[in-house]
Amino acid sequence: DKDDLSTETLVQKMEQQLPEDVWRLLKKIGETASDLNMPVFLIGGIVRDILLNRPNDDIDIVAEGNGILLARGLKEAFGGEVVEHESFGTATWVTASGLSIDVVSSRLEYYEQPAALPEVETSVLSDDLERRDFTVNAMAIRLNAEAFGELIDPFGGQQDLIERRITILHNMSFVEDPTRIFRAIRFEARFGFKMDAQTEKFALESIDKVIYVSPQRINEELKRLFKEGDPKSVIRRLFELHVFQQFGIHGEHMELVCTAAEDLQKLYAHHLQGQNVQPSSFAYFLLPFFVEEKLYAAKKFALTKKDLNLLEETTALQADKSWQHADNQGDFHRLLHGLSDEAILFSLAAGQVPEQSAVIGYVLRRQDLTALLTGADLMKAGLKPGPAFSEILMQTEVKQLNGDISTKQDAVEWLNGYLCNKHS
Ligand code: CTP
Repeated sequence: DKDDLSTETLVQKMEQQLPEDVWRLLKKIGETASDLNMPVFLIGGIVRDILLNRPNDDIDIVAEGNGILLARGLKEAFGGEVVEHESFGTATWVTASGLSIDVVSSRLEYYEQPAALPEVETSVLSDDLERRDFTVNAMAIRLNAEAFGELIDPFGGQQDLIERRITILHNMSFVEDPTRIFRAIRFEARFGFKMDAQTEKFALESIDKVIYVSPQRINEELKRLFKEGDPKSVIRRLFELHVFQQFGIHGEHMELVCTAAEDLQKLYAHHLQGQNVQPSSFAYFLLPFFVEEKLYAAKKFALTKKDLNLLEETTALQADKSWQHADNQGDFHRLLHGLSDEAILFSLAAGQVPEQSAVIGYVLRRQDLTALLTGADLMKAGLKPGPAFSEILMQTEVKQLNGDISTKQDAVEWLNGYLCNKHS
């Protein structure tokens, strides 16, 4: 194939691109493995990224043989530390300079039964590559000195990189691991690639399996996804691949949800700047549930206190919409004081709120509201601590927001008048 990289070109590419220490290390690994008579390969994401000219310092090594022995050999020759995971046949070599290298054995059976006869000449590297998700992630580079830089690409990963395609290896792959559907969307977003038609078809055919993935794992994938992709396109893909539909969302408001995602991002950027927060992946995920008024169906994905809070607060904001029609800051305060900025901005982005700017005005104003009265002032005025305290403090804040009082003295005068009225 004319597009195939020659070993020579790939070696040049590696030398130019990899940090000096990584480059030297890979050569050492190859030499050490050759001394042990062990074929050894760089594998997975880092191979893809070398070909794409993208930095990646996740050095994954596969040894055809006992990877643990290789890791020990490396430590003996070059120092550092080895952490062995015997039952997996893997080891991590941490070099003297602190680089961490994972070594996997692709012939685990050797290790489990040292006395057994070796299986002859099955290409165990290809077994390892076959189990992977996408062609672009299923390539390896040989590191042994005698063939350093040889690209092993049994599934056409290199061609897919050139054609900017995410291609699954076989039709059962998404069924075996439905989280790969999220990974496919993530790689699309990261590289600006697109799944090929067949891959997308397989994804759609296995999408009903995502309901068996634990909410934990789904959350992890969503976090990575929204970190890498722009929220609007990620949400569109989650609809197109029928992910939301598995969780009870119909999807007839997809465009609205996409716009809401963009709005949410903007509202945070404009109004929560100082707090330096971004909408969480859970917040984005929650948008279609809000739009279709099915927030209850998202409950199993709310795994942290923060997520649960957002869910509860947005549920409350959706259930009673009187806050949307308040016409002064004091009323906003009465209705919204217990709710977080995040939940309010979420409801603005996701619901069609008539007077957005008034609500935003309130959210901004309350951020620098300083209390004119404290509990101590109330005690001084002869009140006993109790539920009335918070009602009075709330009323003070309402007056303050409406501009009826603005200094401590105003507040104390108002308080005295209020108490007089009460007692008369
Ligand atoms: N892999 C897989 N199926 C998964 C997760 C991972 O086949 N569900 C394989 C892929 O071949 C991948 C490798 O395991 O290349 C390592 O996984 P991971 O580190 O998650 O992915 P990377 O491809 O390295 O991606 P990233 O750049 O995000 O680390």
